[in-house]
Amino acid sequence: MRFSDETLKDIMNRFRREMENGLGHDTNPTATVKMLPTFVRSIPDGSEKGDFIALDLGGSNFRILRVKVTHDKKQPVQMESQVYETPDDITHGSGTQLFAHVADCLGDFMEKQKIKDKKLPVGFTFSFPCAQTKLDEAVLVTWTKKFKASGVEGMDVVKLLNRAIKKRGDYEADIMAVVNDTVGTMMTCGFDDQRCEVGIIIGTGTNACYMEELRHIDLVEGDEGRMCINTEWGAFGDDGSLEDIRTEFDREIDRGSLNPGKQLFEKMASGMYMGELVRLILVKMAKEGLLFEGRITPELLTKGKIETKHVSAIEKTKEGLKKCMEILTRLGVEPSDEDCLAVQHVCTIVSFRSANLISATLGGILSRLKENKGVVRLRTTVGIDGSLYKMHPQYARRLHKTVRRLVPDSDVRFLLSESGSAKGAAMVTAVAYRLTEQARQ
Ligand code: GLC
Repeated sequence: MRFSDETLKDIMNRFRREMENGLGHDTNPTATVKMLPTFVRSIPDGSEKGDFIALDLGGSNFRILRVKVTHDKKQPVQMESQVYETPDDITHGSGTQLFAHVADCLGDFMEKQKIKDKKLPVGFTFSFPCAQTKLDEAVLVTWTKKFKASGVEGMDVVKLLNRAIKKRGDYEADIMAVVNDTVGTMMTCGFDDQRCEVGIIIGTGTNACYMEELRHIDLVEGDEGRMCINTEWGAFGDDGSLEDIRTEFDREIDRGSLNPGKQLFEKMASGMYMGELVRLILVKMAKEGLLFEGRITPELLTKGKIETKHVSAIEKTKEGLKKCMEILTRLGVEPSDEDCLAVQHVCTIVSFRSANLISATLGGILSRLKENKGVVRLRTTVGIDGSLYKMHPQYARRLHKTVRRLVPDSDVRFLLSESGSAKGAAMVTAVAYRLTEQARQ
C-alpha cells in the first residue's frame, strides 16, 4: 500500500491517458473514466443574484437549502438549510419512492420557509454520474456509493423529480440546473477565488471536475472557450488498469459492495470504504497472531464496525492512541499498548495510500491544465470538500505536499469549500436563470 514517487507518477500518467480516452470521440464509448460534459461554461462572475432553492442529494446528508444571492458586499450569499433523513429503504427501494420522498421533503421545506405559493428556481446537486446534453437534463449513468433505487439508471432525474412534484400538486418548482457535487464545489470556491478551475470531493465517494478546453471535448459542439468536465475518476481501474496496485483487501471490499467491479479507484480511496479496509487488515493480522494475541471477536468480524471517522480519531497526534484503545476495547479484543500502536500504524498506511492515490489523479488533471494553457508554471486554485478531507487530522497536509511534489512547476492553492456544493449549485442556477430571463425579454 505504500508507493514510491515513481509509482505515483506512473499512476498519474495512466490517469492522463484515461482522461484522453474519455474526451475522444472514438474512445469515449468504451472509456472507463467517463469525462462527462456538464454544460457549465463559466465560473461565477459576481453579477448573479436572486432567491433560489438548492437540493443536495448523494453526499453524507440529504439537504435542502434556500440561497439568497445579492450584490451586498458584506454578505453576498445568505443560506438557510435543513437536513432530511434518507433511510436505506428509500435509497434501496424504487425510484418512484425515492423521488416522492425528495418531493415530500421539498414540500415540507417550502412550507416552513413560507414560500409554497412561489415558483422559485431550483438547483439540484445530484452527486452521481449523469449524462447531460443541457443544464436541466441529467440521465443517471449508474448509481454509486450507498444508492441503488430501481428504475432510475438511464432516466432523466429532472423528469422523475418533476413528475413526483406534480403528483403532489400542492406546489410548483422550476428545476433549472443539475450539477455534480464536484461542480458545485468548484463554483462555490470560484465565487471567492476567480482562479478556481478544479473541484474535488473526498468524502463518502471521491471525484473531480475541471475546466477543459471545448476544442478537446469531442462530445460537445463548438471550439471556443471552456466547459467543466465531471471526470468521474472513481471508476478509474474498472478496466483492470490498477490491478497491479490493488490488494486482497481491495478485492474483498469490492466483492462485498453494492456495485462489484465498479468504482475500483473510489473503493481504494474514499471515506465509505476506508474504515472497512482497516478492519479487514486487522482481522487478517489477528488471525495470524500478529495482533490481540490472536483474539478474534464477533464484533471485529462484523462489517462496518470500524468506520472512517474512527480512523480519523486514531490518527490524532495527541489523543489518537487513547481513542484507539477505546475503539478496540469496544470491539472486545482486549488490546495491549503495542496493539494500539500497530493499529494506528495500519490506519496511517491506509489513509496515506488514499491521499497518495488522489494526489496522483489530481496531479494528472493539473498537468493537463498546465499543458492546455501552455505555461511554464501553473497557477491555479483547487476547490475541495468532503468529510474525509475535512475530518481527518493529517489528510489535507499529506495531499497538498504530495501534489506539489508530483507537479513541481505549479503554485496550487487549495481552497476548502466552507459552505458546501449547494451554494455552487445555486450559482449555476443563478446564471441559468439570468440567461433565460434575458432571452425572455
Ligand atoms: C461518486 C459519484 C460522483 C460524486 C462522488 C462524490 O464517485 O459517482 O458523481 O461526485 O461520489 O460524492
